[in-house]
Amino acid sequence: MNLSELTLDRKGLTAALACEDAAFEEALCQEAYRVKVATVGPEVYLRGLIEISNICVKDCLYCGIRRDIRCQRYELSEEEVLATARIAARRRYGSVVIQGGERADAAFIGKVTRLLKAIKSIDTGEDPPLGITLSLGEQPREVYEEWFDAGAHRYLLRIESSNPDLYYKIHPQDHSYDRRLKALCDLKEIGYQAGTGAMIGLPFQTAEDLADDLLFYKEFDAPMVGMGPYNPHPETPLTLSGAPYPSARRRFSLGLKMIALLRLLMPDINIAAATALEILDPRGREEGILSGANVIMPNITPREQMVKYNLYDRKTLNASDVQDLASRDIPIGYGRWGDSKH
Ligand code: 5AD
Repeated sequence: MNLSELTLDRKGLTAALACEDAAFEEALCQEAYRVKVATVGPEVYLRGLIEISNICVKDCLYCGIRRDIRCQRYELSEEEVLATARIAARRRYGSVVIQGGERADAAFIGKVTRLLKAIKSIDTGEDPPLGITLSLGEQPREVYEEWFDAGAHRYLLRIESSNPDLYYKIHPQDHSYDRRLKALCDLKEIGYQAGTGAMIGLPFQTAEDLADDLLFYKEFDAPMVGMGPYNPHPETPLTLSGAPYPSARRRFSLGLKMIALLRLLMPDINIAAATALEILDPRGREEGILSGANVIMPNITPREQMVKYNLYDRKTLNASDVQDLASRDIPIGYGRWGDSKH
């Protein structure tokens, strides 16, 4: 396939994703990088990722911290979260992402509210207060409102797959695609910058499904998207079922192409180079940036707990180095929120 033949409709996106020609992939990623620089600028924005707890009430069939898996659970104390957020402020990351397993208990909800207020009052010197993104799953609208009022202004909730049939193949039956969609709409209505995304290279997933994921982001008019390759965790039902999925190389290549195609489809949004890319290639996130992404989430969770936040097999996890970017002359938006221009 030739880049000049690419169209950004379902048929064209599907063909681009199905095409395994390396020269096409390189041309596509280069073009997306060019569009990124021309539209949102060359800067990469940072969000310090704080994984506050791996306790989860959901039982997603692909996830290594699902409710029914046996693993060591942890929850950071308020002081630990604050100390970690202060590291982000000191390093001038500009904003943080508070991510964790989904919880519905009042104690947790109240704790997050207190944390939001406390993080907002961290002294950042000359910079604005830290921006805060939450990634804590589906919550009642009132909880989203409480957290918004306490200072969160962005929320990440992946749709995981925009195809309801595939969604139900990778989630237990008590999950609801419609409820998830409703949660995304609630977030948007409340005033959050609502980010979404999906996994790439799942069992049962077709090139059409991936094209539909891209069209879903466009239709939802998402100001930010974080998507990344599926990485099998050895003890999840999805892995143990033996259902085939694309090779690591193919999932990596699909991950980059999804970023590049999304940049062409939605030139002015924020696109994160997901951590899951780094699992497949030590330079994965840098490659993501060079394919059109403009956000990186360096993981600043205290090491001892980080290793327990095992969504997938993270044995190759390396300390999210921002240095690689500097050595490539990619400017970093230090001390800024880096909100979506969309
Ligand atoms: N591979 C890749 N991504 C995963 N996630 C959960 N499990 C996996 C996996 N095995 C992603 C989900 C979730 C995010 C926090 O992590 O998309 O939204």
